[in-house]
Amino acid sequence: MNESNEHNLGDFSNLENGELLSCEVGNLEILLCRVEGKIYAIEDNCSHADTPLSEGRLSGFQINCPLHGASFDVRNGAHSGPPAYTGVRCFETSETDSGVTVKIENENSEPEDGPQTGFFQTR
Ligand code: FES
Repeated sequence: MNESNEHNLGDFSNLENGELLSCEVGNLEILLCRVEGKIYAIEDNCSHADTPLSEGRLSGFQINCPLHGASFDVRNGAHSGPPAYTGVRCFETSETDSGVTVKIENENSEPEDGPQTGFFQTR
């Protein structure tokens, strides 16, 4: 069953380009960031070993995991390679005068349902 829920997270007009933050939506931790004027939202949990990506470094559209350095594209959640094996979930966002809305499909699904853009062997 496909469920879709939109959550208005409030006003993030003060979030500057290159800034990121973490927020809780239901039972999900979501990383919000602004790049080139647009808000992006991905799951705030590295697919490699459950580390908050919001503690990492954002460089352009890439967020680097603070633990082992895997990077993920905030536009689609895709990972760039090892040690992560899969991407992370990415959520559609919209921003209006009434705030930022994040659309979460299948809210209770497991992270494995997120984009899987490749499989890398580490040896
Ligand atoms: S926990 Fe993120 S790369 Fe290992």
